[in-house]
Amino acid sequence: MDIDLAVIGGTGLYRFPGLERVEECAVETRWGAPSDGIVVGWLGTKRVAFLARHGRQHDIAPHEVNYRANLQALHSLGAKRVIGINAVGGIREDMGPRVLVVPDQLIDYTHGRVTSFGEGRGEPVRHIDFSEPYTASLRADLLAAAAAAGIGVVDGGCYGATQGPRLETRAEIARMRRDGCDLVGMTGMPEAALARELELEYACLALVANWAAGCGDEAEISLEEIFAHLEHATARVPALIAALLK
Ligand code: HPA
Repeated sequence: MDIDLAVIGGTGLYRFPGLERVEECAVETRWGAPSDGIVVGWLGTKRVAFLARHGRQHDIAPHEVNYRANLQALHSLGAKRVIGINAVGGIREDMGPRVLVVPDQLIDYTHGRVTSFGEGRGEPVRHIDFSEPYTASLRADLLAAAAAAGIGVVDGGCYGATQGPRLETRAEIARMRRDGCDLVGMTGMPEAALARELELEYACLALVANWAAGCGDEAEISLEEIFAHLEHATARVPALIAALLK
């Protein structure tokens, strides 16, 4: 049976509240195992798959996530639409802590990650069109769901994907701002590109956890602050996803 929606939870979202008649699927792929068991359950009449990107114990760092296995596993379970939820730092003035953003562009600053399913001789070389990295119709549905549920989200913005796991320097963020980035996070890529290779519909819901380095008043970014803001932002996610499935 197909999956109506797959949700990849980022930092701060390790299970999906409200899922009913839940079963856990331990899927293996030719790329290895996904970050954790995939939890499949029902939200009303809709079937939802949930995967914790960093594992439910949050013991997989952004640069060590097996993005290929994660997307392949969701694909093989029958998912066609995927929402990637990502904790981010805010760069643009209207993207401060606790704000929800549905970005429409990205710039990839990561390195050394496996960025394609095409690997080795004999595999097709895929030059996917990535002009619009997120699926426009899924973004539109997410924005409409937010409006219907009365949840404020910012429509559009450029996600800068950094390697991590460290946070950025002020100079790096200043450069990213000059490049046109509005948000910074560590897990947006290669996830979005791999989803496109599998022809999955994919959109990002970014949760702003902190001002990026040098963007707020604080001299340093504290983890306590990140988690407090994330908890606040994450609390709005289940209602938003439920509205998306209506
Ligand atoms: N930088 C990169 N990734 C992040 C940040 C940040 O400031 N906050 C949450 N994820």
